[in-house]
Amino acid sequence: STEHTLVLVKPDGVARGLTGQILARIEAKGYELVDLKKFTPGRELLEAHYAEHEGKPFYEPLVAFMMSGDVVAAKVSGHRVIEGFRSLAGTTDPTTAAPGTIRGDLGRDWDLKVQQNLVHGSDSSESAERELALWFG
Ligand code: CMP
Repeated sequence: STEHTLVLVKPDGVARGLTGQILARIEAKGYELVDLKKFTPGRELLEAHYAEHEGKPFYEPLVAFMMSGDVVAAKVSGHRVIEGFRSLAGTTDPTTAAPGTIRGDLGRDWDLKVQQNLVHGSDSSESAERELALWFG
């Protein structure tokens, strides 16, 4: 059955002008862009979004990085899109993410404190529902 997921093009992806390429890969895979918005998220939204990481060493740098510029948030739909987008995105560490993936082809590390890995995708149907409510209301 059709699922929905939250995809974020993070500030590194937007600043590097990769938004179009990233969204094109999602569409080329066969998923639908249901809704899109571009804005600089505030601390309150990011703290809610990343609540599970509170207390980890990369938490503050992660929130600061995500507040550093515009992001593009996308509501994306398709059969098994949650797993499918995570496969398209590649593993968290962009330096070693497999070539062929968004992170593997377009990303690398720039900073020791936080992995700037171009995109976020919800990791489960529960996360997708929670995150879509936060970002799209
Ligand atoms: P994301 O999938 O959006 O969720 C949490 C983010 O924290 C992750 O992408 C990375 O940007 C960052 N992150 C996760 N693990 C680490 C880590 N070990 N070191 C630095 N940054 C991390």
